[in-house]
Parts: sequence; C-alpha cells; structure tokens
Amino acid sequence: MKINILNQSIINFHGDIIIVNLFEGIKSPGGATNAVNKALDGMVTKLIKNKEITGKLGECVVLHTFGKIKPDKVLIVGLGKSSEFGLEQIRKASGAAAKQAKKTKSKKVGTVVHGAGIGGLEPGAAAQALIEGTLLALYEFKKYKKPEENGIKELYIVESDKSKIKVLQKGIESGKILAESQNIARDLINEPSNNLTPKKLDQGIKAIIKNAGLEKIIEYQCLNKTDIKKLKMGALISVAQGSDNEPKFIILRIKNSKKPLVCLIGKTVTFDTGGISLKPPANMGLMKGDMSGGAAVIGTTLALAKAKTKLNLMTIIPAVENMPSAKASRPGDVVRAMNNKTIEIISTDAEGRMTLADAICYAEKKKAKIIIDIATLTGGCIIALGDIAGAVMGNNQKLIDNLLSVSKETGEKFWQLPLFEEYKEQIKSDVADIKNSGGRKASAITAGLFLQSFVNNSKWLHIDIAGKEIAEKESFYTPKGGTGFSVRTLFEFLWRLDKKSF
Ligand code: BES
Ligand code: MN
Ligand code: ZN
Repeated sequence: MKINILNQSIINFHGDIIIVNLFEGIKSPGGATNAVNKALDGMVTKLIKNKEITGKLGECVVLHTFGKIKPDKVLIVGLGKSSEFGLEQIRKASGAAAKQAKKTKSKKVGTVVHGAGIGGLEPGAAAQALIEGTLLALYEFKKYKKPEENGIKELYIVESDKSKIKVLQKGIESGKILAESQNIARDLINEPSNNLTPKKLDQGIKAIIKNAGLEKIIEYQCLNKTDIKKLKMGALISVAQGSDNEPKFIILRIKNSKKPLVCLIGKTVTFDTGGISLKPPANMGLMKGDMSGGAAVIGTTLALAKAKTKLNLMTIIPAVENMPSAKASRPGDVVRAMNNKTIEIISTDAEGRMTLADAICYAEKKKAKIIIDIATLTGGCIIALGDIAGAVMGNNQKLIDNLLSVSKETGEKFWQLPLFEEYKEQIKSDVADIKNSGGRKASAITAGLFLQSFVNNSKWLHIDIAGKEIAEKESFYTPKGGTGFSVRTLFEFLWRLDKKSF
C-alpha cells in the first residue's frame, strides 16, 4: 500500500472512499464531517438524529454519495467520547476504518487526520497514530494460504491547512517505521516453529536487515554451539541440548562508542515443549510464540536503525528450542552459568530464565550500563495481568517509571510487580547457588528475582509479556495471531532515553 499526503479539501478527493470522523454525542458535526453533511443535504445530521450514527469508538458507517461529491463513498468513523480522546483512540478508530474501507473493496482511500483538527492533538503525533493503526490493522499472515487480491492500494492523508503538511509528513514517516517493524515482529511470531528454528532465524534476520538496506547500520554476529560452549554458557546449553536444532546466540549491534552501552535481550525459545517437564498437549501450539521477546527486540532494533538512532546498542537473541529427548536435561540436574553460578533445574519448563541468565552474563561482561530483557517468561504473568498488560520489574525505579509513562502514549499497557527480598526464599536451593523454579506462588516475581541474581553492575529492566504475544481474538488494530507487543513502547523508551527527554 502506497501512502501519500495531499494538501486539499477532502470533499474534492478523487478516489473510492473518504474517511471522516465523529465524536460520540455530537449532534451537529464540524470540520470535514460537516462539509460532507452539507454536500449530502444533511444526511449525517439526520442519521445522528435517528441514532444510526452514534460516534462510538470504532463505529463505521458507510454512505454512498451518488455523485454529489467526487468520492463514491464516505466512511464516518466514531472517535468515542471527546473526554477520553487520545492517540490510542486514533489508532483504534483508524484501524477499524481501514478494515471497513477494505471490506467495501475500495482501492484508493482518502482520510482526514483524526485528532489533528477538532480533537486538538499535536498533528504529527496524530498522523503517526493514524498510520500505526492503519498498517497494524491491515496486517495479515498469509504466507501459507492462497493470496487474495483485495487490499487497499493507495492511502492519501488529506489536509487542507498547508502549514500542517510538514509535521504530518514526519508523523507519517514515524508511523510507517513503527508499524512496519512491529509487523516484522508479528511475522516472526506467526511463523511456525518447523520453519523458524534457531538456524532459520539466523538466516531470516540476516535477510530482514539486508532487505531493509540496514547492513551498514546494524552489525550482525551469530555464535554457534561451539562458540556458546567456549563462553561457558552452561544454562543456555542445558536448554538447547535436548533438541537436534542447535542453538544460535545472535547479536545485533548499532555502534556509537561515545555513548554508554545499552543491551536489549529477548527470550527466543523457538518452540517450548517444556522439555522432560513436558507441557500438557492442549494449546501447546501457542508455544511457537515463545520467541516473542526476541521478535520484540528485533522489531525495536530495526525501528531504531531506520529512525537513525544515536544509541550504542547491543541486541541479544539467544535462540534455542526446548525439546525432550535422550540428550535433554532432567529435573534435578545442576548446571553452571557463564558467571560460574550453579543452578539446580527444578523444572525443564522454566527454560527461558536459563537462556536469559547467560545472556545477562554476556551483557554484563560487555559492560552494559543498561540491560533490558523481555520475555514470554511465566504463566504467572498471565494469571496476574491476563492478555492486557505486560509486567515490568527491575532494579532502578526511574527506568521503570519512564517505561510506564511512555507506555501511556504508545497504547501498550504495563504494570509493575515488586521484587521484594522475601520472595527470594522460594528460589534457594539445597544443592546449588539458586534453583530455576520457585513454585506456583508469585511465579512471575520469582522468575524476575532469578534473573536479577545474574545482574551485577547494570541498571536492569525485566519485562514479562507472557499472554500478550498472541491475540486469540481480533480487536481494533490487532488481528488474531502474533501481536508484536512492546515494539512501540521499547522504541519510544529507548528513543527518549537517548535524547534524555524524560
Ligand atoms: N513459555 C512459558 C511461559 C508461557 C506460558 C508463555 C504460557 C506464554 C503462555 C515458560 O517457559 C514456562 O513454561 N514457564 C513456567 C515455569 C514454571 C515451570 C516454573 C510457568 O510459568 O508455568
Ligand atoms: Mn517453559
Ligand atoms: Zn518458555
């Protein structure tokens, strides 16, 4: 889909459909919606009176224009209550409108920037949210299905006020970068695990970087099993050893030696059977999404590179497959992580933290000043926060506060869980320095504390996104399947961290 900007009145747009908007409870609309109303002899006010249009968030009503104005159809999308209006409402309304416009078989679509006029939001941010909502809503994973040819071909952002064009253009650019990067993360999550082994992920990321023309900006390195063993990553190896698909420790690097090193780590278990502590069969297929932390940091890194970040960034993708076999680790085994700490394996299904422990050791060895890990780590995170919000923990309250405040704008929800000392009792081992499971109570927290025990000098954030990585039902701009949850928030968090604009 091509995206363009036009400086003209939307009423005169040459195309199949125009999208205008309406706040809930408004009796006589203003702006472009009013212009449509006038051109259609008061049709809109009449429909409002009849309660056929209410302006409820995401409501879509399509009117035919019968030649009264240039475009064939008008789509009026509801923006919800003006008192609740913000960037997230723009994403939701734009997503709903884009899907509806596609259903009407429209190829050439024109839209006003919701929120940039009467809504009173900053026009650039509004345009960005509009593009995000649109591109995220229209995403489909059709790789293994017969393709259908019925998409929107061209989207025009139509703005009559010339002074806004430049900021809108910038917003559109940012929106494209973020939505496209998030959609790449979704592609990786949706890819079945037979086609996304650690080795195929290695090849895949290389191809993604090349296709985006970012080879000069993102340095690529992939350590194989022998390298990983040499580095003494015994915790990571203990997970990988049950699978014939060998582990890969992938490192993406955006270098800026003048800046402190920031390390992103994403849990990348390409499939999690649980290992010898085998998971029950129901819904095990969802465990193809157990690499969503990795997908999130890949998407974030791509977006940062495209936006020309000045950060000194290292992105670590410790890719393994967790399989039961004659070579697999057993409950009761004791292994040694890269920093010499010994770990008693209580459950081979608590594998994510094993891979992250060694990745954190690696980041510490590289003298990272800030480490952020993100993972589909615990069922406990789903029990606590459902499929709505991610859990955030860490050793630096300022970083946590910053992440929470950024997430209010990106529309992705997060909530802090406490790393109280008292919980540490649960992961004390009789035979080793620590054990990999603290049982069912507060399991998202004990997993966080397990990871914290591998952090030495860095400021550290831990984000558990279990349950948020795959959507079981479609909503405004989130189709079923891989969500790419966290890409937008991580990007914005790191962007502001670099600009020190918190
Ligand atoms: N990948 C799972 C967590 C998960 C569960 C993510 C459901 C998404 C949906 C993780 O590896 C796991 O199995 N965690 C166990 C650990 C337990 C055995 C200590 C859990 O939380 O139940
Ligand atoms: Mn597991
Ligand atoms: Zn897992």
